[in-house]
Amino acid sequence: EMHYLKDYRPFDFELKSTGLDVSIHGTFVDVTARLVMERRQDGDVQAPLFLHGEDLEILGIWLDGRLLAPREFLQDGQGVTFFDVPVSFELVTKVRIFPDTNTALEGLYRAGSMLCTQCEAEGFRKITFYPDRPDVMAPFHVRIEADRSLFPVLLSNGNPVKNETLPGNRHAVCWEDPFPKPSYLFALVAGDLACQKDFFRTADGRDVQLAIYTEHENANQCEHAMVSLKKAMTWDEDVFGLSYDLDMYMIVATNDFNMGAMENKGLNIFNSKYVLARPETATDGDFEGIESVIAHEYFHNWTGNRVTVKNWFQLSLKEGLTVFRDQQFTADMQSASVKRIQDVRSLRARQFPEDAGPMAHSVRPEAYLEMNNFYTATVYDKGAELIRMIHTLTGPENFRSGMDLYFARHDGKAVTCEDFVAAMEDASGADLSLFRLWYAQAGTPVLHVTTDWDEGKGRLTLHLRQDIPDTPGQKNKKPMVIPIRTAFFSRSGEQVLLDYRGKKDKEFLLVLRSKEESFVFDGVSLPVVPSLLRGFSAPVRLRIPLNTEELAVLLAWDSDPFNRWEAGRMLVERTFRQLVEDHRAGRSMVVPEDVIAAFQAVLENADQDPALAAEILNMPSEGELYHLLAAEKIAVNPLMVHEVREFFLDALARPLKTLWERTWYACRTQGAYVFRAADVSKRRLKNLSLFWLSRFPDTGFGWVERAAEEASCMTDRMAALQLAAHFHEEGSRRMLLDFEREFAQDALVMDKWFQVQALSRRENTLARVEELMGHPLFSMKNPNKVRALIGAFASGNPFRFHRKDGAGYAFLAERVLELDGLNPQVGSRMVSILNAWKTFEEPWRSEMKKALMHIRKKEGLSSDIREVVDRALA
Ligand code: ARG
Ligand code: ZN
Repeated sequence: EMHYLKDYRPFDFELKSTGLDVSIHGTFVDVTARLVMERRQDGDVQAPLFLHGEDLEILGIWLDGRLLAPREFLQDGQGVTFFDVPVSFELVTKVRIFPDTNTALEGLYRAGSMLCTQCEAEGFRKITFYPDRPDVMAPFHVRIEADRSLFPVLLSNGNPVKNETLPGNRHAVCWEDPFPKPSYLFALVAGDLACQKDFFRTADGRDVQLAIYTEHENANQCEHAMVSLKKAMTWDEDVFGLSYDLDMYMIVATNDFNMGAMENKGLNIFNSKYVLARPETATDGDFEGIESVIAHEYFHNWTGNRVTVKNWFQLSLKEGLTVFRDQQFTADMQSASVKRIQDVRSLRARQFPEDAGPMAHSVRPEAYLEMNNFYTATVYDKGAELIRMIHTLTGPENFRSGMDLYFARHDGKAVTCEDFVAAMEDASGADLSLFRLWYAQAGTPVLHVTTDWDEGKGRLTLHLRQDIPDTPGQKNKKPMVIPIRTAFFSRSGEQVLLDYRGKKDKEFLLVLRSKEESFVFDGVSLPVVPSLLRGFSAPVRLRIPLNTEELAVLLAWDSDPFNRWEAGRMLVERTFRQLVEDHRAGRSMVVPEDVIAAFQAVLENADQDPALAAEILNMPSEGELYHLLAAEKIAVNPLMVHEVREFFLDALARPLKTLWERTWYACRTQGAYVFRAADVSKRRLKNLSLFWLSRFPDTGFGWVERAAEEASCMTDRMAALQLAAHFHEEGSRRMLLDFEREFAQDALVMDKWFQVQALSRRENTLARVEELMGHPLFSMKNPNKVRALIGAFASGNPFRFHRKDGAGYAFLAERVLELDGLNPQVGSRMVSILNAWKTFEEPWRSEMKKALMHIRKKEGLSSDIREVVDRALA
């Protein structure tokens, strides 16, 4: 059933309190819910009471203590309706659920030896009958009872208030969460778990107990997560004046989890990928991921939990804002410029295509069939860009006042994106009325820029125009507010002082508010190179005609590191486009000398900023190049993209060979592994050198072997292993075998082992992936394994996935059908890979479509997968 924003109505009842009694037995769990409710006088006084509930076996329902007969309520697949309830009453329901057979990993489910929950967005209704909507909030009291040996640890939200010892080796623990919360923030964990403890003293002097729970064998892998948590707590106090509110903050790590992590009040549940780390088993990327996801979930305590969402259309209210906060945090902890570059790269690789495809939706969507399908790059990452633009338009101090006002107004409430914008507007005095369109209009605006220089008058005019593409269900859109940070450079690289509306400055914030507008600068006596959209100040596609010489100036001299990187990207993309033209016209391809020289200069000066150099010299993937072509309405031919990119990489590699060798030596770090920015960037540049060196046919494999031999941390091991996996079978077989033998016991490390093989560029990769599905450690029931093998192959290895014979697509379709019966949420992510089918050339296009049609044929397809497939084929 479709849900529409325009149909939103508040709940007709008020939920005063929620009591849960959860009794865990061998193969089932009995849940008794005690709901104290009152009819709202401002609501519909006739309205029946409807409670959500799915897959629940009813054991009994009592209204004010009286057991109801089955004819006194109506149960269907969605829940239960009571037609006759008094003004105020207590409803008790007792149901039985079966976590052992819950493979969807939503609601209460078994994860190894523990039981745990995932309720966002609508999983609570699989635990008990309830008004499972985020605008219904209540204080929770939870009692959990279980066998003491199997489940010595029993956790829920808030504070533990009571322990009971019971006959038959059973025990019970009671938890009380004083902060009223919606059901999606409920959590429960039961298991035999190890606990790492610490504490944090808040700015106002309260001690908070910190605890990270894991399976016993991973107890020694929590230190980095704990350090990250304390950093995040300190940062939120320093930057936003926000302190933690309960006496305990708990994190549980599980291997079976549909996504990254979940911010349940006081009891976060995490994919163990974002908790566990030590240098021998985790890469720099893993360490970074943990630091940022731990922070993200912690920041949700204010942006998400204390102030939550009124309905799921407002998801970006908490996700966009919290992503923005975690991005700012990482920028402060690590390298701000690298973080920005990586985020923009991922926005372009994931969100821009989404915005141009069949699932395009606005940051505040208007309709959904399955809410789980809207935890998207648009809601999260474009949502964060909207917050960033507000930050840019209001300025940091006003932004902070806006946040303060937002909490002052809405603490303890369920609100909307509009409420956030209004608080920002009221606190800053800025007029954001037009800006609100960003929440409502989907599609990535294209910003066209041309320049006019009147040398005689010393006057430069920038002509700006925006076009917003149509998206499914949205046509003829209105112009948006686009903040454009702008500076100018001389041909020799100085940032020049210009006159704009009577004000002299080196950087300007231009704000485009209409379809077209010109901006006039005076005092331009020499030719200048414009540096626009600095720091990526708006999520748009910038079209500006700069030539190689101008791009080389920005690449070498721009004072904004993001725009240095961006100039490099523009240079590569232009070159690639030219090569594609040549290839299609049957001309011989040539990479211009000045392009090579520009990148050579970056490498020669890499020691000035190794982290930035590594980003600039890391070339676009084939997937990124597909998006580039698709955005220009050029149908993608995967074979051609591969060939042209390889040609380009070879042309760039050859003249730089000795420089790369020198860089590799220069970046070797001595001593024990430490996760700190300086070492991370050196390793990144060293392993990038290895990538380039591995491309030389005669010496390449020798370099990889040598790097593998001297690798002493997982970052270096994985870099070498990945490159080795691209080579001939004999080369990598021994390395892979050794690796497997060493880490067979460690599920997270084995994910890397599967992934490396799924990403191999060798011709038989599809066959190898199929073979690996039979490996004893692989399981379709474990989302991390599915992502590591099938997800990595289908979305991280486009060259081998997009086979001309369609075998890759047929393989994916079968896996999606399998997941449809096991875990629709994960299945839906997998099928989305086919969303871009219309951007491909024949025969790829038809083969992808065929796979989608094959999936659609299945009867009783889950709403998750059906929604994506229907929209893709519409
Ligand atoms: N709120 C969680 C987070 O961003 C993610 C929940 C995702 N839920 C889902 N059904 N996909 O931190
Ligand atoms: Zn989140």
